[in-house]
Parts: sequence; C-alpha cells; structure tokens
Amino acid sequence: TRKGPLAGRKIIVTSGPTHEPIDPVRYIANRSSGKQGHAVAAALAKLGADVRLVSGPVAIADPAGVSVSHVESAREMRDAVESLLPADAAVFVAAVADWRTERSAAEKIKKAPGNAAPSLQMVENPDILAGIGHHANRPYLVVGFAAETQNVVANAQAKLKKKGADFIVANDVSHEGGVMGGDRNRVRIVSAGGVEEWPEMSKEDVAERLAALIAERLKTITV
Ligand code: C5P
Repeated sequence: TRKGPLAGRKIIVTSGPTHEPIDPVRYIANRSSGKQGHAVAAALAKLGADVRLVSGPVAIADPAGVSVSHVESAREMRDAVESLLPADAAVFVAAVADWRTERSAAEKIKKAPGNAAPSLQMVENPDILAGIGHHANRPYLVVGFAAETQNVVANAQAKLKKKGADFIVANDVSHEGGVMGGDRNRVRIVSAGGVEEWPEMSKEDVAERLAALIAERLKTITV
C-alpha cells in the first residue's frame, strides 16, 4: 500500500489533447503535449494517491505508478472519466477540442480531379469538467485549468462558477512564454477565496505545488 498525505485517495486526472476524426486518416486536434497533465498525475502519485490518468494521444510516456486509460476523442475521454467515478478529486488538465465534426466518414475522403474540397460541419463537444463539476457524484475537489490570452483572472473566475470547479489554474498563453509544448509555466490559482500568483517555474514544480495544495484541501475532508 502507498504512503503519503494522499494515501487512500482516488484522483482522476485528464491530460493531452483530444483527436476528433474527420475520416479514418484525418483528425482535428488541440495543441497539447500532455506535459503538464502527466506531471500532475505523477506528483499526486508521489504523495500516495491512487491516480487514474485519462490521456488523449500524446508522444510522452505513461507516468510511473499511475493507472492510465488511453482515449482519442472528447466523448471517449468523458466516458472514461465518468466510468472512474466516484473519486476524491479530479483535475482536468486536458486540452479538449471544443468542437468535433458532426459525422466522420467511414472511408478516406478522396482527393480527385473534379472533386470539391470537403466542408466540415462542426458540433460542440461535451464539457467534461462542467459535467463532473455539476455531477450528482461530484468528487470533493474539482480542479480545472484555463489557458487564456486575455482577461486571465476574470475569465478564470467566470469558469469557476460555470464549470462548478473549486480551483482554476489559469495561465496566460498570449506572449512568447513558450507555455505550449514548453517546459515552464506561470500560473495563478483562482478560487472563491481569491487569486494566488505563483512565480514562473517548471511544469513539474507547478504539478508538485498543486498536488500539495490538493493534499492540504483534502485533509479537511474526512471520508
Ligand atoms: O472552457 P475552457 O476550454 O477554457 O476550459 C478549460 C478547462 O475545462 C480545462 O480544465 C479543460 O480540461 C476543461 N475542459 C473539459 N472539456 C471540454 C473543454 C474544457 O474538460 N470540452
């Protein structure tokens, strides 16, 4: 059995992008390496948690000591997350595609002389975080991430309410910080209690500090 402040706690983490199929060989995706989400999963496991990582397609290895479900699309990610309930906490780091194609072609769409370029009809994907934040079986602690290019804090505060989250980890991806796919991150922790600014640090350090914050919060909740 595991040791640490999160021993006995089951925590769901989402990470990576989702791929929304157009046909068997083509897809629409978000830009996400999975580095931050995988680091969060690893940091929670280091504190003793039973971590269930639901990952979209990424090029990085499964974190050690973590149980991983691999999915492709947003709907698969939502189903995987729901099947893992109940849980003590859930941390939504994945960059989920907001839209998918209304239907994906069963066969490869052929490019041929005289064929018009295909147009894609898009429909909205489920918001996985909002679904869990307002779920009848809601984990005690629900944490979301928000990549913003403007009005970072105001947007994060609005997201807290809309998505039913306890914390939003907000980062500004507007400038040349290299957050996307990079190794460092500068975040603000937005909650009903206010806004906490963390200095720029590695994604691993963000993950460790967030895991410590989650452990601190869960300590006050007895099962
Ligand atoms: O609304 P926005 O995409 O900025 O919200 C980001 C947060 O919501 C992240 O925690 C992300 O993992 C989660 N999310 C989700 N399902 C979606 C869209 C976002 O879980 N369809």
